[in-house]
Amino acid sequence: MSTKLQRRKNLRVLVPCLATITIMLGVVAYSPTLYRLFCAATGFGGTTQRALAGSEERSDRTVTVLFDTNVAPDLPWRFEPEQREVTVHLGEQKLVFFMAQNLSDKAIVGHATFNVSPGTTGIYFNKIQCFCFDDELLDAHEKVDMPVVFFVDPAMATDPETAAVDAITLSYTFFRSPAPDKPKDLSRFLATSSPDPARGQALFVERCAACHAPDVNKAGPMLGNVVGRKAGSAPGYNYSLALRSADLTWSADSLDQWLADPRKFIPGVKMPIRVLDASTRRDIIAYLKAGFDKPSGRSEYRPVAQGSLDQHRNE
Ligand code: HEC
Repeated sequence: MSTKLQRRKNLRVLVPCLATITIMLGVVAYSPTLYRLFCAATGFGGTTQRALAGSEERSDRTVTVLFDTNVAPDLPWRFEPEQREVTVHLGEQKLVFFMAQNLSDKAIVGHATFNVSPGTTGIYFNKIQCFCFDDELLDAHEKVDMPVVFFVDPAMATDPETAAVDAITLSYTFFRSPAPDKPKDLSRFLATSSPDPARGQALFVERCAACHAPDVNKAGPMLGNVVGRKAGSAPGYNYSLALRSADLTWSADSLDQWLADPRKFIPGVKMPIRVLDASTRRDIIAYLKAGFDKPSGRSEYRPVAQGSLDQHRNE
């Protein structure tokens, strides 16, 4: 065989080999991201699901959820669960808190990753609210209590792989964020001593905007001008009989009782969430009282002065 032909033959083997190696290297370099995307999509490996709203069913079966927290060595934060464990009914929505404190003299952006074990329960573990969805900014020496709202899907009890599980560990690790992109400020979880409509706005976006907007009905009725409005009276919204026939005008006080536990305040209503923290309720109500501006996007509600509320009402 001529050496020329031999060289061409070698090349024909070498080129596909090099291409394969390059692709493999690429896969390895990006595999944490690919793995995370894969896990987020499938729940594989104990990645949990993000939910917009709670489950409607609630079963008699209970499961104990244990909390575990870790901080990467290069992040000078303290980060601890405020409860070691809670026992919940499947389908029951639960609010738990985690404490984070920046021990350094500089503001730092962190990002939390999370995992549940056993990994097979990951697809049934749903989080409605979590600091783990975004980059989070913590100012120098700031300390905050961060809420997580979750529920465990009742379907867990019927899956042969998970039917016998009676304890789930939810584990978080905070890392220093490598490339912070518009971090959220964790100080939104700090309670001030007087009602704070701006904080209420941030909390509203996080906890209510999935179902409520000021001037359109979504899963829940429109809430512009709700303070002073008769309960169950937003035009065009299909209320539960319980709320439609409640003889009640919304005030700061009744809203507080409603938000603390709607189904206890008016049995038979269909709003599925509760706001357990009093200062959170106070600030959301302060925001509702201040009124809304027309939203320019789903997560951008601006409080406006009382004057423009009346204008809103006349529209
Ligand atoms: C998962 C969806 C969902 C979320 C999240 C939610 N709500 Fe609701 N809300 C509803 C539904 C559904 C109703 C109607 C209840 C009924 O008809 O029984 C409702 C009704 C209300 C009402 C009564 C309005 C009226 O016209 O009488 C108020 C006030 C309210 N919600 C406030 C809030 C606030 C504040 C938050 C955030 C803390 C919030 N809701 C979060 C679904 C939701």
